[in-house]
Amino acid sequence: MKLFISLVILLAAIGAASADCSYGQRCVHVGESCPHPAVDPWTTCDRDSWCFFSNNPATPYESGNCTAYAKRGEYCDNDYWSCAPGLECFSNEGPASCQYLYFATIGEDCASAFECTNGNDCIDGKCQLRASQEGSCSQTWEDCPYGFSCNRTSDLCIPTLTVGASCSGTRAQCGVGLICSPTNTTMTDYTCVAINSKGLGAACSQNTFSFNLDGRIPDIECDVSQSLLCLENNNGELTCQAPPAITTGNCSTDGCKENNEYCGCPVDSYNGVCALYNTLGAACSESINELIKCAVDNECQYKASGSSSYKSCLYQNCGSIMCDNKCGGQSFSDAKSCGDYKYDGCYAQNSSSFVRPTIFLAIIALVALLF
Ligand SMILES: *[C@@H]1O[C@H](CO)[C@@H](O)[C@H](O)[C@H]1NC(C)=O
Ligand SMILES: *[C@@H]1O[C@H](CO)[C@@H](O)[C@H](O)[C@H]1NC(C)=O
Ligand SMILES: *[C@@H]1O[C@H](CO)[C@@H](O)[C@H](O)[C@H]1NC(C)=O
Ligand SMILES: *[C@@H]1O[C@H](CO)[C@@H](O)[C@H](O)[C@H]1NC(C)=O
Ligand SMILES: *[C@@H]1O[C@H](CO)[C@@H](O)[C@H](O)[C@H]1NC(C)=O
Repeated sequence: MKLFISLVILLAAIGAASADCSYGQRCVHVGESCPHPAVDPWTTCDRDSWCFFSNNPATPYESGNCTAYAKRGEYCDNDYWSCAPGLECFSNEGPASCQYLYFATIGEDCASAFECTNGNDCIDGKCQLRASQEGSCSQTWEDCPYGFSCNRTSDLCIPTLTVGASCSGTRAQCGVGLICSPTNTTMTDYTCVAINSKGLGAACSQNTFSFNLDGRIPDIECDVSQSLLCLENNNGELTCQAPPAITTGNCSTDGCKENNEYCGCPVDSYNGVCALYNTLGAACSESINELIKCAVDNECQYKASGSSSYKSCLYQNCGSIMCDNKCGGQSFSDAKSCGDYKYDGCYAQNSSSFVRPTIFLAIIALVALLF
């Protein structure tokens, strides 16, 4: 709960203090003091820790301490002992510990039902549709195996569509690596086309300015290797275009001209620079195409929930592509910052020894308190 409150405070403070630019955070490490975000929103704890504020601050806005997250298998209480991002504090019986949960989709391997997404059952080591559904799927991707999606009219799993198939006016979805895209700017007919494929001037429907590869394949129609984005043309139609020139000057004062840009600030500075959300071009395009191929080869149902977990099909098989993708935006990190942000799934949050001695003592203390 305290973690949740401090997160809310942190987000609120960042929102208020940095309508202009919020990038470039100074980094403090485990055991070091971290300022209250209302006092200094520009300082954060390193990735493996969070800022813990004691229960009864002697003074308002007192500083906290950067406190290490509990790793996989370690004791947790959702308070001081909070699990690292991506792990759940879980107790079946006995003391709770941090575990990877809810990452396996229908047909994937599981050790218990807690590993299956959407409350599905684990039978004979595979996730299967939960018995209570009596054979009916209930959400588009969740209750169907790879190669299928749920027809929300009949509640039956139906095969996904292949490239070139019409995807307007149907309950069927385009398959992995494909996207439902208009055939022209009239936007009446849609077909399944390869993600990241449409050329200059082609019609598109989703003006996504920012995308990530965190357990997902971005839904982008336009060819990233040609550095195209789906933008409105002079007639107000969405087509694949090269983005306009980047706004120059100090954006901390005036902001950026285009809504496909954001204002980034280096650590400890209000000298904002406008940048695209992603680095477009051949290398980024290659990362996306490699990820699609990997998802298809390994039959990952990545549109279901749980795909951003370290234990998901996509991370287990294609993690290196997502973690080393070349689509990241301009870096504003320097020696004072914690480095560039990485997706949670890119950190294996395994504890080296199953239970750390200090935590083991904490458990004994807790058990002693309880009984
Ligand atoms: C941070 O750690 C110091 C030294 O261990 C301690 O005196 C202080 O009370 C801690 N502050 C919080 C907010 O937990
Ligand atoms: C979805 O289910 C409805 C109702 O049974 C059916 O009429 C329709 O053809 C199905 N759509 C597909 C693409 O299978
Ligand atoms: C757009 O496609 C629709 C359906 O395929 C077609 O009827 C229409 O004439 C096309 N419009 C243009 C401008 O090509
Ligand atoms: C940029 O704008 C911010 C906010 O108005 C200001 O604090 C900063 O000094 C400016 N930087 C430069 C180099 O003018
Ligand atoms: C984490 O632990 C699990 C089970 O103990 C093991 O299968 C997996 O390989 C470990 N991952 C890493 C990166 O050490």
